[in-house]
Amino acid sequence: MADFSLPQDSYFLGFDSSTQSLKATVLDYKLNIVTSELVHFDTDLPHYKTKDGVYRDPSVNGRIVSPTLMWIEALDLMLDRLLNSKLDFGKIAAISGSGQQHGSVYWKNGSSSILASLDPKKQLVGQFHDAFSIGESPIWMDSSTTSQCRELEKAAGGPLELSQITGSRAHERYTGPQIKKIFQEQPEVYQNTERISLVSSFMASLLIGGYACIDETDGAGMNLMDIKQRVWCNRMLEATAPELDKKLGTLAPAHAVAGFITPYFVQRYNFNKNCLIIQWSGDNPNSLAGLTLNTPGDLAISLGTSDTVFGITNDPQPRLEGHVFPNPVDINGYMVMLCYKNGSLTREDVRNRYAEKSWDKFNMFLQQTPPLNGGKIGFYYKDHEILPPLPVGFHHYILENFTSDKLEGLSEREVLEFDPPSEVRALVEGQFLSMRAHAERFGMPSPKRIIATGGASTNQSILSSIASIFGCDIYTVQRPDSASLGAALRAAHGWLCNKNGTFVPISSMYKDKLENTSLGCKLAAKAGDQQLVSKYGLLMKKRMEIENRLVEKLGRC
Ligand code: ADP
Ligand code: XUL
Repeated sequence: MADFSLPQDSYFLGFDSSTQSLKATVLDYKLNIVTSELVHFDTDLPHYKTKDGVYRDPSVNGRIVSPTLMWIEALDLMLDRLLNSKLDFGKIAAISGSGQQHGSVYWKNGSSSILASLDPKKQLVGQFHDAFSIGESPIWMDSSTTSQCRELEKAAGGPLELSQITGSRAHERYTGPQIKKIFQEQPEVYQNTERISLVSSFMASLLIGGYACIDETDGAGMNLMDIKQRVWCNRMLEATAPELDKKLGTLAPAHAVAGFITPYFVQRYNFNKNCLIIQWSGDNPNSLAGLTLNTPGDLAISLGTSDTVFGITNDPQPRLEGHVFPNPVDINGYMVMLCYKNGSLTREDVRNRYAEKSWDKFNMFLQQTPPLNGGKIGFYYKDHEILPPLPVGFHHYILENFTSDKLEGLSEREVLEFDPPSEVRALVEGQFLSMRAHAERFGMPSPKRIIATGGASTNQSILSSIASIFGCDIYTVQRPDSASLGAALRAAHGWLCNKNGTFVPISSMYKDKLENTSLGCKLAAKAGDQQLVSKYGLLMKKRMEIENRLVEKLGRC
């Protein structure tokens, strides 16, 4: 008989190593939050001189990386902060984590011995100075691998074929094209690499003092894994670089145990030596777990550095657009997702240009402008966009004679700029009209409700706009960092699966008592009226027409 109880008085720790910060959430055995903590890369670790957690390399088109050592030092700082907050590390039964998806780490030949012999008297960071064959990890924002993408698609028989095998066509940020570029441009560096980790498995490796497996969910963000069989696809490995299987190790399901915590953390921080490290996974999969998304009609929108929209399905149909990943908390299920690069940083940019760097002013502008913006449509790409594939640039259009009830005969005029309040509304409406349009085109269900998360989900004015555009209620969870919350929940889930010696459904932990835990969601914005929703439908169609023309003119893929 399966036992779904968690040990009394135990804690479960979840990390999220994201683009801009390392976050931690601790849950108790009743799934209530005990504490949470954040290390912000730019401000807490200023000596790395990152902007938004990254380096944008002006000398190479589209190259965006982060210093690998910064992620390690953030873990040192995080553990010191948790210690200072009097968290009893000895009570932690299991740890898991979330990493920004697609980013990769290159361990130099011989580094496994560094991992296996950590000195508890010293911080971690100083012990890894000589551990990497590449010191700057390519991350998900990078768009420098277009030629490698085309080569990998060709090797698979075409972009759709690659999507059917791996869950996505080739994308610049995906790890396969990134590895191929390193092999092609720096073969000696590739040769000098004994192991390639994702951000998720890299952080797990630090905790177990050895190389952790890549989990099947985050592994699907590489263009290298057979999405149905959940094993490496040999054809794609061979098309990427020689002997890649040896450098990647095997895959593991997200609920599996990666290992026991390494003695370093037991001796330095008094963790229990039986503390389990559960496989880490990607940030979007962890958010899916943290939002307890289990109904196919529900969608989640994550408003972090990237904006993503995702849902679950049992019958995935990989296409040219969007992504399919295994569901991290359901061994037979999948998640489907769309990802935008111009999320929070672009909202910040528009806020800084037009709303005096203030969210209050930004929100005031949103409130004082009418829905549909009088037919003013904007496209705002501060960074090279993924969806649609368009380069950096802002584009402004005004629809002539816009009455919002018919599209026929509606023409648009390009202008240089709008007044500041209209810029703000055009940005927000544009981002979520695009999301609605692409979600529909991808075959995602018309949502019955949306659960919002990520840094910008604390913004009520943005949530109200989403409710009007999608025409459904918007819910939020207690804290906007659902990725670290999901990781803590997965730590408990992995602990339970391990105790039972088999996979158990995650819902068994919170069935019938969700509202008494920190996982319950609350209504944050009511659906807009249906007339407005259909008017937004018309504006969305017009926007897609203009977007398609922009892609024809300026797009690369
Ligand atoms: P990530 O996990 O990708 O590092 P987060 O989910 O932590 O990112 O979100 C960080 C972003 O949240 C910031 O870049 C910021 O623009 C955004 N944010 C924070 N507060 C607000 C707000 N009140 N309104 C809109 N955006 C906000
Ligand atoms: C998903 C993606 C981003 C990163 C960073 O495909 O690239 O959402 O996971 O958050």
